Amino acid sequence: MDKVRLAFIGCGGICKGFHARNLKDFEDVEVVAVADPVEERREQIAAMFGTKRLYKNHTELYDREDKSTVDAVYIMVEPTAHTDTELRAIDLGLPFMVEKPMTLDIGLAERIVKGVAEKNLITSCGFQDRYLDVMNLVKEELPRHKPGGLVYGAWVGGVPGVWWWQKRSTCGGQLYEQTIHILDGLRYLFGEAIDVYATASRGIVDADTAHSGVSYDTDDHSTAVIRFPNAVTATLVSGCYLTDASGGAFSGIRVTLSDMTIEYRLRDRVTFTTKRETREVRKSPIEHGIAADRAFINAIKSGDGSGIKSPYSDGIKSLRLGLAANESMETGKVVRL
Ligand SMILES: NC(=O)c1ccc[n+]([C@@H]2O[C@H](COP(=O)([O-])OP(=O)(O)OC[C@H]3O[C@@H](n4cnc5c(N)ncnc54)[C@H](O)[C@@H]3O)[C@@H](O)[C@H]2O)c1
Repeated sequence: MDKVRLAFIGCGGICKGFHARNLKDFEDVEVVAVADPVEERREQIAAMFGTKRLYKNHTELYDREDKSTVDAVYIMVEPTAHTDTELRAIDLGLPFMVEKPMTLDIGLAERIVKGVAEKNLITSCGFQDRYLDVMNLVKEELPRHKPGGLVYGAWVGGVPGVWWWQKRSTCGGQLYEQTIHILDGLRYLFGEAIDVYATASRGIVDADTAHSGVSYDTDDHSTAVIRFPNAVTATLVSGCYLTDASGGAFSGIRVTLSDMTIEYRLRDRVTFTTKRETREVRKSPIEHGIAADRAFINAIKSGDGSGIKSPYSDGIKSLRLGLAANESMETGKVVRL
């Protein structure tokens, strides 16, 4: 295959600012079809790639395209818009990359995993931090030490400006929509969680100051306590109440081992500290998002998906853990995984 022919479903923020920007420089990629109900968005992306086939939504696109015209699909819609966006790709035998969190409906996610396995399709989820060099340095360092200890994960900032983020019913809450990158990182580093207990608080963010004309009703901050194997206990905090995010709030992962502390600052750097020394490594300028998109495109070309660090069958485990934390916030009970 000379060039991988892609179709884009959803031409909003993550498409324009991330995947389209990354893929634009890939000489072995062409975007042959795009879909978005918002005309201006689909036209902007089509203009970037010289795309001629523009559709109003995923249904129109799947009605007119198939394996003879498209090699793979990028699905970049909001969390509640994953109706049959993946199931129709599966029916057509089309591999897909899908943005996190891939749905709020775990039953749908289970059907997708089953369909993908039956058709043996290559998939990738938008957990691109698994491709970060500094995240992988942490992963390499951990087995050199006695396992076990305290872990602190955090994602703290302001309220994102897209309409669907304002409501828990359309984004799933901050832990599920945003901090899920850290939660997925914890799974990547420490394995599968045993159980989770979580609480949430409201009252700091004023519903009337909401973005995009939709009033805000989700949690301002939450704390989840997650037990992992090997005596690892993580506290995972999420906060979206900051009005001035430059105040130095910590986002990232801190690991306290018996003989070393590791501090990974979100998408920036990692510091390894022992009694004798402190070693800091900054993230390389090579964009980890490009590495993630490259891994997917290479897999489509070769038919070998082993270079993909977050196939759907793995990504669904982060959804399950995030939903378990949400359940605990609602019931006040520990949820076993
Ligand atoms: N991996 C990351 O770091 C990262 C960062 C930001 C957003 N995201 C995720 O990407 C997804 C999209 O986020 P966004 O910020 O781009 O949102 P957005 O609202 O800017 O864009 C979503 C787009 O999908 C379109 N859409 C909705 N239904 C459609 C359909 N049936 N067919 C075609 N298009 C449709 C909408 O019109 C909109 O333009 C979310 O799940 C979000 O969590 C991931």
